[in-house]
Amino acid sequence: MHLSMIGAGYVGLVSGACFAEFGHQVTCVDKDASRIEALKQGKMHLYEPGLGELVQKNFRDGRLVFTTDLGKAVETSLAVFIAVGTPPRGDGSADLSAVEAVGKEIAAHLNGYKVVVTKSTVPVGTGERLRQIISKHKPEGVSFDIASNPEFLREGSAVEDFFRPNRVVIGAESPQAIAILKDLYRPLYLIETPILLTNIATAEMIKYASNAFLATKISFINELANLCEPLGVDIHQVAKGMGLDGRIGSKFLHPGPGFGGSCLPKDSQALVKMAEAQQVELRVLSGVVAANQAQRERMMGKIRSLVGPLKGKTIAVLGLAFKPNTNDLRESPALWIVSQLAKEGAQVRVYDPEAMTDARAVLTGQSIVYAQDAYDAARGSDAVVLATEWNQFRNLELEKLKGVMRQPNFLDLRNVYDPDRLIALGFQYVGVGRAGTKTKP
Ligand code: UDX
Repeated sequence: MHLSMIGAGYVGLVSGACFAEFGHQVTCVDKDASRIEALKQGKMHLYEPGLGELVQKNFRDGRLVFTTDLGKAVETSLAVFIAVGTPPRGDGSADLSAVEAVGKEIAAHLNGYKVVVTKSTVPVGTGERLRQIISKHKPEGVSFDIASNPEFLREGSAVEDFFRPNRVVIGAESPQAIAILKDLYRPLYLIETPILLTNIATAEMIKYASNAFLATKISFINELANLCEPLGVDIHQVAKGMGLDGRIGSKFLHPGPGFGGSCLPKDSQALVKMAEAQQVELRVLSGVVAANQAQRERMMGKIRSLVGPLKGKTIAVLGLAFKPNTNDLRESPALWIVSQLAKEGAQVRVYDPEAMTDARAVLTGQSIVYAQDAYDAARGSDAVVLATEWNQFRNLELEKLKGVMRQPNFLDLRNVYDPDRLIALGFQYVGVGRAGTKTKP
């Protein structure tokens, strides 16, 4: 089947390459000409394991093409996916201007029946709005359908998630649109992926509800971790005990500096805004958002209580991306902590395996030292803050690390290390939800 993916960002590129791998003919469209040129030369603008190989292979085989020409792509496609950004506005609600602009452009190029599918996360009612926009701007006599097919791809494992999803949600209301979308996902029938058919508004809500619920689990466990600290209880054992109950589940109960990324923070806030517009109060979710901000601030408190006033101190931060296996810095708690440390007068030395170039571009105007590796970052530092749990940081040579530090303070914001081991080596160790600072007797 011929399909086009409008927006060659994270979601569009992963989905486009994976659909091509299924054997479909995919045109990825982006208005950023330099991005399209780079993709044609096999150069990726984002780091995602396995994606580069998939893009190159399908490009070489001719199933995946890149263009800035939206019109031509639409004209040759039966399904047109919208995967452009829906960034938050100042008040937290989703900005739909890119989606609406693309809708108008698609309408102008409708030369026969097509199904227009939203993949971007869009507020409930956007499908309907898009239907009105396209109806208004399309040539007379051509028909189309709208569908919603939200993505649930985790950055860092997006390719794997596309090929092995927990579910595929298809929001569509006409038999033709349903048949086309089911056909697109046919290869997944072999692995018996549940396909959930709903109306469009429900599919739009499922996406928000899922991300908001994941955010809720994280804020819940983070707040509980904070309570475990003064009570001398280990949050990991608590999470394990909770997670063994099938109704709760063990996933997303890992405490840390709070959730970041392009989805959880933005979608939680947008859902609160959506509810406000309907005069409905989402008290739980509002609390989740507030708790997430407080969690970052609490991490700063931990650093201060370990090293004292930050002015003149040297702090090493390991990890900048919001999670491992990505260079994405959006809403990254690690990045926020780096900025905050710098603001409070600390000399910050940072290292991240993939996000250094992006960090330089974002952290302008702050004097940050970009180190060669974890040990270089730790050189002369008063504390090492493990902020993102890259595999490279899971097995650090601790003696070597301690040897280059000014003071052996270790803040393990991802609870990667065994506190007893670090304490035995002479570190002062602080984790999250692990009974406060322990020192060698
Ligand atoms: C998320 C959703 O998981 C995915 O389904 C959706 O479509 C896009 O948004 P992603 O943003 O890639 O994916 O990251 P995710 O793995 O969900 O992690 C989000 C944040 O929560 C990260 O900052 C992570 O460090 C944090 N997190 C996650 C925790 O702090 N604790 C956990 O137990 C799990």
